[in-house]
Amino acid sequence: MNATTWKEKLSAIRDSFSISVAKAPAESPEAIELRYLGRKGELALLLRDLKDIPIEERKVLGALGNTAKEEMTAKLDALKGASGPAGFVLKSDLDLTLPGWPFPKGSLHPLTHTMNRLAEGFLKLGFTMADGPLVEDDYHNFEALNFPPFHPARDMQDTFYVGVKDTSGKDMLLRTHTSPVQIRSMEKQDPPLRVFHTGRVFRSEAVDASHSFAFHQIEGLYVDKGVSMADLKWTVDAFMKDLFGSSVKTRFNPSYFPFVEPGAEVDMSCIFCKGANSAARCPVCKGTGWLELMGAGMVHPNVLKGCKYDPEKWSGFAFGGGIERFAMLLYGIGDMRMLYENDLRILKQVQ
Ligand code: DAH
Repeated sequence: MNATTWKEKLSAIRDSFSISVAKAPAESPEAIELRYLGRKGELALLLRDLKDIPIEERKVLGALGNTAKEEMTAKLDALKGASGPAGFVLKSDLDLTLPGWPFPKGSLHPLTHTMNRLAEGFLKLGFTMADGPLVEDDYHNFEALNFPPFHPARDMQDTFYVGVKDTSGKDMLLRTHTSPVQIRSMEKQDPPLRVFHTGRVFRSEAVDASHSFAFHQIEGLYVDKGVSMADLKWTVDAFMKDLFGSSVKTRFNPSYFPFVEPGAEVDMSCIFCKGANSAARCPVCKGTGWLELMGAGMVHPNVLKGCKYDPEKWSGFAFGGGIERFAMLLYGIGDMRMLYENDLRILKQVQ
């Protein structure tokens, strides 16, 4: 072979190499490399033919061959980089228009959602969010709330004791209601005060369709100059209407809680039979037209005094009740246990 033919052959190899690279990914970079640059590839064979060419010309052609090899290697490296991570070959049949993997959306637990809605309602009314511990001492859970030491009122709440004593030698307990947050808020802040709290409470109770040993309550407290029962009634009514719609009515019945005087039970008109109180007995309100929702009342002077609030100067109202009951009414859930079983059909109801 003479030098001219050799050069023509080199040029032909370069052209066909360029075409192969341009057509990739019809052929993988590895296959192109093997065909042109491999030990028995087209360029290697051509370089081997140099032995038949006179030494002076061979040097020049050899240099041309090496330059061609470098260029081709660089192009192949670029092609490999473009085709993704090592070992991953872009296939021409990759269809980027196909739908992706479905990504199931999570949702809030109905109880969390209910607590958020309650919180929104009270934030709108100018209340701020307060907090308190789940493991309480006797003082905050009972004594400061005007439960005398051996008073039968303590029997209203079956308490879980945790087997640890507080600094005064009394047994620590899991809070039986959210009312101790009233005390903790008044200890932290001087009047006037307007706070609410949502959280978990515990009672030694058997589980059934409307009871559990661990459940949730909302608590509210408003202390200022001249606060009256009328303010309590307005606040509770406004909040119920915000949650369940403007046609809902509320009513108060006299009741007893040691930390309020007077105390009341708050009822809401039945949202299912709309208070129709008809002969066809509504299974939710049992035909009474009313649903019991919360306890409430005017903060007892002893409670204010204990927190160093002067009852001659300040008065306040408080209210509290179970959040599960709200959730069941909001989402039409008939059995409280459903809220704890994590059945996806219940959980998916709230988006
Ligand atoms: N803590 C009471 C309970 O768990 C509910 C309650 C009643 C809260 C009256 C109050 C209130 O703030 O004023 O049964």
